[in-house]
Amino acid sequence: MSIRGKVALVTGASSWIGAATARKLATEGAIVGLAARRKDRLDTLAAEITGAGGKAVALSTDVTDLTSCKAAADALIAQFGRIDVLVNNAGLMPLSNIDSLKVDEWQRMVDVNVSGVLNATAAVLPRMIAQHSGQIWRDRRTPD
Ligand SMILES: NC(=O)c1ccc[n+]([C@@H]2O[C@H](COP(=O)([O-])OP(=O)(O)OC[C@H]3O[C@@H](n4cnc5c(N)ncnc54)[C@H](OP(=O)(O)O)[C@@H]3O)[C@@H](O)[C@H]2O)c1
Repeated sequence: MSIRGKVALVTGASSWIGAATARKLATEGAIVGLAARRKDRLDTLAAEITGAGGKAVALSTDVTDLTSCKAAADALIAQFGRIDVLVNNAGLMPLSNIDSLKVDEWQRMVDVNVSGVLNATAAVLPRMIAQHSGQIWRDRRTPD
């Protein structure tokens, strides 16, 4: 199935894998919602995609906050009428020996990598159910 014309929300789009995924989706003709906390980076990427003839909007989003995720999804729906794909990419991977007991980092990782995935999913799922279609990806290769 072609991604052309589909509306995709990419979390963690301000950096590396998320930004590359957003660029790739836009190149293939998708409309891309760029979600992360660093709005300046999202604005720059949105301008780059738009300048290349694609469609993208920057959505300042903290995935640890369900209200913030819903606001991003609602903004995308208000502008384009639907959400076809959620790329649940936002995440962090702090590295330390377990006996360092960096419990603040563990908690932050759970907040972003677990709660963040659930919050973003909860934000898009009602729309996908209403439109009887949608895909939620953890990364670009593996639709769930
Ligand atoms: N790179 C690898 O080798 C590798 C390997 C395995 C898995 N992964 C996974 O792939 C994903 C992307 O990796 P990456 O290397 O591209 O990481 P990265 O460059 O560190 O980017 C992480 C992204 O997550 C966003 N993010 C972090 N906390 C957030 C929050 N509270 N709300 C919204 N966005 C948040 C960051 O945006 P802001 O800071 O602007 O919010 C950033 O865009 C991660 O889930 C990572 O665990 C990466």
